[in-house]
Amino acid sequence: MTLTETAPAKLNLALHVRARRADGYHELETLFVFARDGDTVAIAPAATASFGVTGPFADAVGPDGDNLVTRAERAFRAAFSVAQPHAVTLDKHLPVASGIGGGSADAAATLRLLARLHGIAGDDQRLLAIAAHLGADVPACLLGRPTFGSGRGDALVEVRGLGDMPALLVNPLVAVSTAAVFAGWDGMDRGPLTDDGDMLARALTGRNDLQPPAEAVAPVIRDVLTVLAGCDGVVLARMSGSGATCFALFADVAARDSAAATVAADAPGWWQMRTTIG
Ligand code: C5P
Repeated sequence: MTLTETAPAKLNLALHVRARRADGYHELETLFVFARDGDTVAIAPAATASFGVTGPFADAVGPDGDNLVTRAERAFRAAFSVAQPHAVTLDKHLPVASGIGGGSADAAATLRLLARLHGIAGDDQRLLAIAAHLGADVPACLLGRPTFGSGRGDALVEVRGLGDMPALLVNPLVAVSTAAVFAGWDGMDRGPLTDDGDMLARALTGRNDLQPPAEAVAPVIRDVLTVLAGCDGVVLARMSGSGATCFALFADVAARDSAAATVAADAPGWWQMRTTIG
């Protein structure tokens, strides 16, 4: 029996960095939303554990046995005393180290699949604990629904989403280290995310405080944002997470698709994904 799940791209509609912590992490406030599209993870019980990766970004993951997917599988088996090994396959469509949670989404999808396979409730606290241990974004990806995150980004409160907005994701194909971008934050607390209004209103009055340090690491991010912000019908254009992926939200599909055509013509080397944000 093979079970399959989408590991949707994660977007931070806004991300406010508030303080450095003693443990090397940062206190932040963020609005998580998820795309309709992403990677795909498939899992089947097998005689021996194995990991395979396919898709356009397979090479960036590599076939070896240490990545967030295999770590999630091992952590699940240890936590729930499952002796049964699994064959795991990852179809990698999202660029790696790109601010849209690829690895975190893959780990979260792996945990959801293993929970289904072994009859564990999706909201079991032990699953959440494994997720938090794997990475700050993994709990939000495990939930996979519009959420306000604080603390490291793993203290979660579900919120009402955008209600299916057309979106375009663009990455200039420069991998950016999350740790390096956080390390470049200037230490200035620019204030909280408002809790006033709906998701879009909060996003529009918010910011991504990691944008300046990410642009210092990868100046091309500024070009991506300039192109996206100049497209007709854009409601919001911003970088996600620690970059370098930027997103644009549109009022309608025609505007989104025409922006996608503009980006493809102006910058054929950039990765892009047309999707819908819930
Ligand atoms: O938890 P994860 O391994 O995904 O985080 C990667 C890096 O990003 C951390 O080692 C840390 O440098 C940085 N980070 C941070 N504050 C957060 C989340 C991540 O400084 N809230």
